[in-house]
Amino acid sequence: MDIAFIGLGKLGFPCAVALAMRGHRVRGYDTNAELMAGYERDEVTPFEPGLEDQYRNAKPRMTFEPSVRDAVAQSEAVFVAVPTPHAPRHDGSFPYDGQPRDFDNGPIRDCLAEIAAAIRSIDDDVFRTIYIVSTVTPTTTVRELIPAMVEAAGEEPGLRWGVVYNPFFIGQSTVVRDFLSPEFVLAGHSPSPIVRARTERAAQELYGSLHDRPIRSMTWTEAECVKLSYNTYLGLKVLFANTVMELCHALPDCNCDTVNGALKLATDRLVSPKYMDGGMADGGPCHGRDQMAMSFAARNAGIGFDVFDVINTGRDHQTAYLADLIREHAADRPVVLLGMAFKPGTNQTQGSPALLLANILRAAGVEPLLHDPVIRPETPMPPGPAVYFISTRWESYADHPFRAGDTVIDPWRMLSTDRLPDGVEYIPVGVGPTSNSALGSSLTRNAAKENEACEPKLSRFTGSYTAAIS
Ligand SMILES: NC(=O)c1ccc[n+]([C@@H]2O[C@H](COP(=O)([O-])OP(=O)(O)OC[C@H]3O[C@@H](n4cnc5c(N)ncnc54)[C@H](O)[C@@H]3O)[C@@H](O)[C@H]2O)c1
Repeated sequence: MDIAFIGLGKLGFPCAVALAMRGHRVRGYDTNAELMAGYERDEVTPFEPGLEDQYRNAKPRMTFEPSVRDAVAQSEAVFVAVPTPHAPRHDGSFPYDGQPRDFDNGPIRDCLAEIAAAIRSIDDDVFRTIYIVSTVTPTTTVRELIPAMVEAAGEEPGLRWGVVYNPFFIGQSTVVRDFLSPEFVLAGHSPSPIVRARTERAAQELYGSLHDRPIRSMTWTEAECVKLSYNTYLGLKVLFANTVMELCHALPDCNCDTVNGALKLATDRLVSPKYMDGGMADGGPCHGRDQMAMSFAARNAGIGFDVFDVINTGRDHQTAYLADLIREHAADRPVVLLGMAFKPGTNQTQGSPALLLANILRAAGVEPLLHDPVIRPETPMPPGPAVYFISTRWESYADHPFRAGDTVIDPWRMLSTDRLPDGVEYIPVGVGPTSNSALGSSLTRNAAKENEACEPKLSRFTGSYTAAIS
């Protein structure tokens, strides 16, 4: 396949080499002409073990072009790995100043516009797929990058070009290996089914020529979310392990390598997809109180940053968010919490997030009805329309007799809409608004509106509730 690679830095160059190693013809372009001249002279600048040999093998299939247009004109796939810089002192080597900021999207936006303008100027029938590798925050592609491309191309995506948001999960020093043997390929596509079908086919063809790893297809915004969630999750793991280390340092007869080493043996629960579905807060007779106890221990030991406290307060805030959602939809209707147990299959309510939710609602002046198929099956349902919230993921709630006029809020996304009677409003928590547009401009208009609607909303929870559960 003929492939253009735009941005030949620490990530781009080794990946371009990897593509050429697999037999593809790669045309590279970088605004840094010196860098490209160095590659021509076999100066392999990115420090990657083995890259010099790999480049020697791949070089016959690589060229370095004088312009974006030259690279794009003869290619059907275009990778883009240009920088998305962060604000000064926001690289993690200085203390965080408490002011979150977006990346500077200027370089990637301008580069994509240049690619789109090049496509506009090329008179052929080739459908070009542009793979955006650079890291951006969720909604950037639909809100900022696609509109810039549409303007420069003079046409919507779908006929002559399409975009895949395709970030790599790659570690420096193993770029080629990680690129050619990833856990999975992340591919974000247009929300338009027609455009998506085209770019999905293209991505399957391209990645099928590199390896047999699964391709995970989704929307641009979902892929942006996966990329940043993946990285922040790794950050959380490191934070956790480092906090254990700091705590162990203050405790007698306690070595953090012994503690973390034992945790690492827990490959079923700790290092697995388990506990990775959005839903209610973590709960049960152990977790909540263990976290609070660890927080107590950590503070007594005088550690600098108490991650356990973050988990505690995060749990409260996430539950308060669900309480806010219920109150927003209640409109004077009674509120029913379906489920009291901390998880299905038990009658345990200790540390149950369902009860935490009930207490937060009470503190806000809403008295919910509590039902549970095991603990309180006799709770009478309201005679008229109500707001139902599935607080425990009991399978039996899939068959609950909801009626027209009811609202069902479901943090587990477990109900099937075809089985709900007409007139029931169903709110699957965690599923964002849908953009119904066929192609670009209405897509971006809708997305811009959705984006306004999705401005970060801080929970109104202020943290004072003491009501005991009855
Ligand atoms: N380095 C990694 O391991 C890694 C991993 C995942 C994602 N990323 C993301 O990939 C992107 C690139 O990262 P990097 O580490 O390779 O950066 P880098 O600074 O090493 O390389 C970027 C290259 O792009 C070139 N460039 C800038 N503007 C250009 C333009 N308009 N046209 C052509 N070339 C242009 C620069 O000259 C530079 O050589 C960033 O968004 C980064 O967050 C990097």
